[in-house]
Amino acid sequence: MNFPIFFGHFQNDLQNISSAVAFAFDQYRHNLLNTMKSFDEMIDRMDEIDKQTNFQFCVTHSDIKFVAANYPLYWEANEIVFSSIIKPSELQLSYAILPPLTSGSSSYWEYYSKLNEASSKSSYDVSAYNSLTQLIIHLTRDWTYDGSSVRKALYFAHIIPRTLNALPPSLGSPRILIPGAGTGRLALELLSLGYQVEINECSATMMSFLHTLCHAVLPNASQYTFYPYLHYPLTDDWDLKKRESTSLFPYCDDSPSLQQYLSTSTVFSSLSVQYGDFVKVYGMNAGYRLNSFDGIITNFFIDTGRNIFDYLTTIQQLLKHDGMWLNIGPLHYHHKNAIPYSLKHLLEIIKDFGFHTISYETVSTSYCGEENITMKPEYYHVPIHVFRLNKISKTKKDHANPQNSSLSDAPFKRPNYKILN
Ligand SMILES: C[S@@+](CC[C@H](N)C(=O)[O-])C[C@H]1O[C@@H](n2cnc3c(N)ncnc32)[C@H](O)[C@@H]1O
Repeated sequence: MNFPIFFGHFQNDLQNISSAVAFAFDQYRHNLLNTMKSFDEMIDRMDEIDKQTNFQFCVTHSDIKFVAANYPLYWEANEIVFSSIIKPSELQLSYAILPPLTSGSSSYWEYYSKLNEASSKSSYDVSAYNSLTQLIIHLTRDWTYDGSSVRKALYFAHIIPRTLNALPPSLGSPRILIPGAGTGRLALELLSLGYQVEINECSATMMSFLHTLCHAVLPNASQYTFYPYLHYPLTDDWDLKKRESTSLFPYCDDSPSLQQYLSTSTVFSSLSVQYGDFVKVYGMNAGYRLNSFDGIITNFFIDTGRNIFDYLTTIQQLLKHDGMWLNIGPLHYHHKNAIPYSLKHLLEIIKDFGFHTISYETVSTSYCGEENITMKPEYYHVPIHVFRLNKISKTKKDHANPQNSSLSDAPFKRPNYKILN
């Protein structure tokens, strides 16, 4: 099996990735220390109740204490598994500004001076998705049995069929870009169906995980168990004991095509992985990737940016004329300085960028199948749009509805309000 190449862009990436990964473990530890503190308080209260009342809660309370007493063991087991998988020191990053997916150039140093210039402007920015907790959530979603209902709802029932329909792989192995690819399951599914796939990801932890997954775990058919639910707050539990259950990964039984691909393929190299911020990485030298993707799939990604216009501009530049953009996910805007456009307004803006809607549907799903453990799963009703890009489409002004022109031309008055005593 040929491995995918992982690309970094700045000379200090590796050092930053190591620091970010160390921080990711600390964030997880912080999370679990809070849980242990809650257990301590809970045990104090239970002891008090046992002393003060005549009721016999001892069996229930000792059951809870048993879980609490073993929690550090489960935590330690996770530390051991994840520190054996997330090893930034083993990352082999090729430094480049976007070498072509498969077009043959290996001149990574070609743009060295430009890269140095960009590097001096780069700052060490830890992604909100960097923590080990986020990795465990995304790993559960993508690579465990517990996440299979979510994959079925999103990947197998919607994203993959829509992609196959809009961009049949028989059309010369279309090139697909997946920005914010998380732990990479969708990318590998598409690879197994004959697409050339490029992943972009800015979380150092996800990136390090992906590296081991592609270079060691999948090629060696290794399997690992871990405790996926330790980080949940001690509320809304169906049954505290479920926290003691383990998950196995990678779980691929729900995908015959991926299983088949992993057992026979020697073309893993048609996967390319670009580490870094989507807008920075592709904006820095858009020339390499300008008009080069047949499809872009944004899966729970479009709401992660500070500025949605940067995302839309980048997507529009990278996609070929008539290319497909499939967007799936809520508008759960992550940054304060993002404008929280509603779907209706966002669709108007998307249209102004030259995208035409081919299909629209919605799907309801939890984020990582966590409804089995918590009564408060992260649950979404998500729109799924397939767009086609018309690069020669009308400009923003042409799109303005003449009937609304008096509305849009009128000077805007900020609303005036005051709180009455
Ligand atoms: C909500 S998660 C979704 C992950 C994956 N697409 C999925 O559906 O499982 C968003 C992902 O986008 C990544 N991300 C956020 N902002 C990014 C950016 N500016 N550039 C690249 N990746 C980004 C995060 O690290 C995270 O993995």
